[in-house]
Amino acid sequence: MCRKTREDLRSHRWFGVNDLRAFAHRSRNKQMGFAMEDFMGKPVIGIINTWSELVPCHAHLRTRADEVRRGVWQAGGFPLELPVTAPTESYQKPTSMLYRNMLAMEVEEIICSNPIDGVVLLGGCDKTVPGLMMGAISAGVPALFLPAGAMVRGNWRGQPLGPGSDAWNYWAELRAGRITQEEWSEIEDGIARSPGTCMTMGTASTMAAAVEVLGFTLTGGSSIPAVDSAHARLASASGRHIVEMVWNDAVPSGFLTEPAFRNAVTTVMAMGGSTNAIVHLIAMARRAGIPLDLETFDSISSRTPFLANIRPSGDYLMDDFFHAGGLPALLNEIGDLLDLSTPVAGGKTLGAAISGATIYNDDVIRPRSRPLNGEGGIVVLKGNICPDGAIIKQTAMEPHLLRHRGPAVVFENNDDLNTRIDDPDLDVTEDSVLVLKNAGPQGGPGMPEWGQLPIPKKLLEKGVRDMVRISDARMSGTSYGACVLHVAPESFIGGPLSLVRDGDMVTLDVPGRRLDIDVGDAEMEERRRAWTQPAPRFTRGFGLIHARHTGQADKGCDYDFLLHDELAPV
Ligand code: FES
Repeated sequence: MCRKTREDLRSHRWFGVNDLRAFAHRSRNKQMGFAMEDFMGKPVIGIINTWSELVPCHAHLRTRADEVRRGVWQAGGFPLELPVTAPTESYQKPTSMLYRNMLAMEVEEIICSNPIDGVVLLGGCDKTVPGLMMGAISAGVPALFLPAGAMVRGNWRGQPLGPGSDAWNYWAELRAGRITQEEWSEIEDGIARSPGTCMTMGTASTMAAAVEVLGFTLTGGSSIPAVDSAHARLASASGRHIVEMVWNDAVPSGFLTEPAFRNAVTTVMAMGGSTNAIVHLIAMARRAGIPLDLETFDSISSRTPFLANIRPSGDYLMDDFFHAGGLPALLNEIGDLLDLSTPVAGGKTLGAAISGATIYNDDVIRPRSRPLNGEGGIVVLKGNICPDGAIIKQTAMEPHLLRHRGPAVVFENNDDLNTRIDDPDLDVTEDSVLVLKNAGPQGGPGMPEWGQLPIPKKLLEKGVRDMVRISDARMSGTSYGACVLHVAPESFIGGPLSLVRDGDMVTLDVPGRRLDIDVGDAEMEERRRAWTQPAPRFTRGFGLIHARHTGQADKGCDYDFLLHDELAPV
């Protein structure tokens, strides 16, 4: 490892030379009250913060930024806090996914155009994680990720609640008339009780774990709850460590390898992680120039046992996971399925970092001898309506639907779905297959989380709680159900999903990895000739940029002009 000198720092070009521009740069630091001793010859650490009052999950990140700052000062660096846009799961329409790549672009540009030697990235709410990491990978400076941590468990009348999962669950009960409006309001009071990300195995928990295994987070950090004092200590430790990473020139290309991404995929499968991780990990890998495709997810899933007993696929919540030993204990249990030689944050190999990690509650983190499922949660499907792939989370659906055949009930878009789904005259039974079109990367746009199509009210009242559903949308990691997602190519650009009609017989075969409709090639071709593209939702602004440049789900939905794996110009 080659150790940098002061003259090697990027920031030296701004502050260290003796010319008119450097005079101006130094004088502006002094304008903020910093003396030469504060910054000269020191690594400048950007604390890139997605704190915003639009992101309740990040409510504590201003305090955490100060704790990172403390660590940077202690280690001899010069910290600067840099606020960036924060895609928010809680409020943003049509979907925060529309803004993931916007965040990635901002992170890359703010690093590359400024005197930044290394960064600590603060985020956690779903799209902030891949957005921050994609930008940091492309910028190519040393980077650490400080995950927001999960919020404390929800509570209703002594029952634990998980956001997302229990919201869907009790919403269905309310629509079926099995709980009252008053009880529903009590659940609203108790489902999100502190700062932090959703404490189920949603996208935030999944991506935080995957990013730790890739090498961006100090070992064990992704499992620490948001309000635990250990989380504050993780923040200051991250501040200290990033300074050392800058001196050692520990850039992402040094540890983002194909084995590291395979380790991340294995982790996602063992945790029963969110389906969204597929899109995000593919996008991050492509930024790093690493090949990662749907087939890799499927083959790793088929050899990885599902061990983390966390909702929505299991029984517990992230707080339980932390106290059961957290991610290091889980990784130690599946060590033989990982490449333990990959380097991780902290300067060790993955094997050394997790060595000796112990499971303290083997119902929360199951031993290999007692998995929740013999293989991972996510299955990749192929067939005549998804030639480039689709996915389903087999651990979060009713087992009797793993093999299913039924007639399609088709909705042309989300408005059509919302208008007709509860119509008493809708021709639907529990054997029907609900199909939603035009909810993909371009059609949504942004691939909204509409993939858990609601069960028609008249079936809910009969006790039906799961049906086969198909779309080119995504689904929240906290959702459940027999929902085929990410159908590629999407219907908006004329993928075969756009040609499905009411009454077409659909066959889902999860063990056989197939999804097909009983429509012949000639009939499909005739339908294709009659097909016309729907009008785009956005005709200006960022929505238009997104729709013009986004890739398909199986390619990670990154923009075509950002895909090059050469590092950004400085
Ligand atoms: Fe922020 Fe779920 S809403 S992580």
